[in-house]
Amino acid sequence: MNILVTGGAGYIGSHTCVSLLEAGHSVIVIDNLNNSNLETLEKVKQLTNKDLTFYQMDATNEAAIDQVFLNHKIDGVIHFAGYKAVGESVKKPLEYYQNNLVSTMVLTSACQRHGVNRIVFSSSATVYGDNQVPFIETMNLLPTTNPYGESKTISERILTDAAKANTNFSIALLRYFNPVGAHESGLIGEAPNGIPNNLMPYVTQVAKGKREKLNVFGNDYPTVDGTGVRDYIHVMDLAEGHVAALENLTEGVHIYNLGSGKGTSVFELIHAFEEANGVTIPYEIVDRRLGDIAASYADVSKAKLELGWEAKRDIKAMCRDAWNFEKNYVEMTIAK
Ligand code: NAD
Ligand code: UFG
Repeated sequence: MNILVTGGAGYIGSHTCVSLLEAGHSVIVIDNLNNSNLETLEKVKQLTNKDLTFYQMDATNEAAIDQVFLNHKIDGVIHFAGYKAVGESVKKPLEYYQNNLVSTMVLTSACQRHGVNRIVFSSSATVYGDNQVPFIETMNLLPTTNPYGESKTISERILTDAAKANTNFSIALLRYFNPVGAHESGLIGEAPNGIPNNLMPYVTQVAKGKREKLNVFGNDYPTVDGTGVRDYIHVMDLAEGHVAALENLTEGVHIYNLGSGKGTSVFELIHAFEEANGVTIPYEIVDRRLGDIAASYADVSKAKLELGWEAKRDIKAMCRDAWNFEKNYVEMTIAK
């Protein structure tokens, strides 16, 4: 299939491009490179020994998107493009709603106009809010406490309503849990700008000596050891989940949790990282982070049953590959 990938130069998008190309699909990426760079797509080509088409453009630009649909016979769209920093979304709500909602509407209406029916959307476990774990697709969604999360909930609603009006649409809403790690080669991975918000990139920067110690946000949650529990999923498992969703889509709207189904605490992740990589991660317990919930992990049975997909890589592999990328990334930066 010819797949249009918005945000394909980003963290999850670039790994998904690798899986799509390896599965024999053709890839057309559009990205405005606001949180990524072209070098990543060169690495994707290098890794797969395959070519892809790239347009540097904004997914909210209706005329430009229309032209891409005219230039190519597109069979499906995977929509990754968007802003994703929870804290920043509280400070810049209008920018977040503008980018995340308008891009979703522009793409969906382009699909409608050009008769493209397969759409895969990047949603998030954040839409469950502070529900009872494990989170299952049939649960009522709860408020998410930030504009980023709300933009995902509203995007899901927009796509669901679009599919009610156009019964040819086959839409997958993929609720990712906590994507971590990197391609096994260490060539592509997650390289956040500035101080990382998320646990794994912070841990790798501590391991590298770039940051002195990890701040553990609270050890008084009602969890196994008092620290926050999350469902970490290797980014290559997530990438393969997109290919499975795309290839198995049928008409209507289908929601899938993409996670490992296992909860891992902050302490457990630190210890797994230390064990996998033979390094020590100094840490300090600090106050809880505003807006955090105690535990989030997925019921993953639906994706397994309907897509034949499940996460294969364990927490050790996630830690090893995250560290492997961070080390490579330093070398590349120095080599520049
Ligand atoms: P990322 O920032 O690495 O990738 C997003 C890409 O989209 C970037 O390359 C950026 O330049 C591009 N982009 C942003 N706005 C654009 C626009 N208007 N037009 C064109 N390109 C644009 O983020 P990621 O971690 O790869 O996340 C991909 C998607 O998955 C996002 O929608 C994110 O909200 C969602 N998601 C991410 C996580 C996570 O923890 N990483 C969890 C759940 C959901
Ligand atoms: N944590 C720390 N110290 C840090 C960073 C995080 O102790 O420096 C803790 C958090 O308190 C939490 C756990 O590590 O208990 C994971 O935190 P992350 O920031 O890595 O991940 P979140 O679950 O908070 O959020 C992430 C993304 C969201 C997404 C959500 C669900 O940032 O965008 O996963 O997919 F919505």
